[in-house]
Amino acid sequence: MLCGHSIGTALVVALTAQRILTLECLSRFRHLDTLRLQISYIRFFSVREWRLLDHHHAHALIGYFDLQFPSALIVSYDGEGNDGTFNAYVGLGRDIVRVAQLALDPGYRYNMMGALLPEVTGLWDEHQMFCAHFDLANDAVWVDATIFYDQVMVKSTILSVAGKLMGYAATGEATGTTIMELPCFVRASSRSKERYGLIPARILRAACGDLTSQRSLAWIVQEEFNQLVTGAVESLLLRVSESLPFSLHGLVFTGGCALNVITNQLAFERFTDRGAAVSKTIVEVLPSNLRVKDFHVPPAPNDSGLSAAGLWSIASPQQHQQLQYLGFGLWDEEALEASAAEWKAVRLSFLGGVDYLAALLAGENRTRKPIVAVVRGRQEFGPRALGHRSLLALPEGTEIKDRLNRLKFRQWYRPVAPMIADEDLEAVFGYVAKSPYMHVIAPTVEDERLSHAHP
Ligand SMILES: *[C@@H]1O[C@H](CO)[C@@H](O)[C@H](O)[C@H]1NC(C)=O
Ligand SMILES: *[C@@H]1O[C@H](CO)[C@@H](O)[C@H](O)[C@H]1NC(C)=O
Repeated sequence: MLCGHSIGTALVVALTAQRILTLECLSRFRHLDTLRLQISYIRFFSVREWRLLDHHHAHALIGYFDLQFPSALIVSYDGEGNDGTFNAYVGLGRDIVRVAQLALDPGYRYNMMGALLPEVTGLWDEHQMFCAHFDLANDAVWVDATIFYDQVMVKSTILSVAGKLMGYAATGEATGTTIMELPCFVRASSRSKERYGLIPARILRAACGDLTSQRSLAWIVQEEFNQLVTGAVESLLLRVSESLPFSLHGLVFTGGCALNVITNQLAFERFTDRGAAVSKTIVEVLPSNLRVKDFHVPPAPNDSGLSAAGLWSIASPQQHQQLQYLGFGLWDEEALEASAAEWKAVRLSFLGGVDYLAALLAGENRTRKPIVAVVRGRQEFGPRALGHRSLLALPEGTEIKDRLNRLKFRQWYRPVAPMIADEDLEAVFGYVAKSPYMHVIAPTVEDERLSHAHP
């Protein structure tokens, strides 16, 4: 299997004589790019058949077949796609059908807000120049930020802005101030092209204000995003339950925005029986006749999962496929034994296994608690480090988090996800809050609060 990647794509699936190749192409110039890709492929492979798979349909396949609920409402949303930006599907047995395509693009708006904040992008000079450029005194004005936005998106790592903004939002305080235009701004579909890059002056003033103002802007953007998404999903659940002769088992979030663990947790608590039973953050859960039983997000909800979707569009899996460790193996695996011998490496099991590891992380015999890198088997398929390529450290206090962030060249505010033994979940969260792919973020029981749990 081979795959390419770019944002906002349709997926092109090439079936060759021996194997299946999947690749993607840009939606904006769909036909031209498809053609270009096809031409470069046929130089190397003899292709029997080409298939074009819609972007969100592909996300939906990955989300639904990853767990195989008997039936589900599948919500796929992200900043771009040849078939929309916020779609819903109903999965029943082995089939899925699209039931809605909403004119919402919260992913694009969310990204755009992240681009305005220098602690997110690291582009301080650009931010200063941008803020000096406009007269933001007049509230009635909408400023055209397209050029700035495009510039930021080129200079910073485009695909990481949203994830950083999510962590950054936790640094903001609820100042009680709202920005009147924000709800409307976040809700506006980016398909209304004439308003694509326009941002209300009042929002820009917050983005160009001091750090407190920037951080609280991040916080209210996340709040607005939560409300928009949960509101849309609620009305989808209502409409779908009215028109279906059976009740749905699950709710699946997929697409790049399904990496937003804050929104995911809210959806879990608000819309599912399992979540409603443990909800601490949401006062009002949906009435039980509208709720589904369970919630799921696949290990690779964003575009990194699309290649597998190409395969599943041709043959859906007969049983649950564990995708999360299907990434690349070690490039130099054949040299492993020799290097281990050279470094006089000793097996962990020989030293005492997990108990030894715990003592090591706790700093036994050392002046400083170590950070231990783990590499085992094939790497993760999807963006989360789930123990095959992870850094282990003792989660106590913020010092270790700061060291981890320095080590990874990450911003100071970025959280790390603590790993918690199954048998301790209840003590830490008050219920068995499973999150095998880091897709939700349960609040901790107060006195167990870990200083660097996801915000
Ligand atoms: C998927 O999300 C991760 C985390 O935000 C990001 O690093 C990665 O580039 C994304 N991949 C694609 C193909 O969008
Ligand atoms: C610390 O030293 C003791 C005694 O040498 C040894 O048994 C133990 O395994 C060491 N612990 C670690 C984590 O190195």
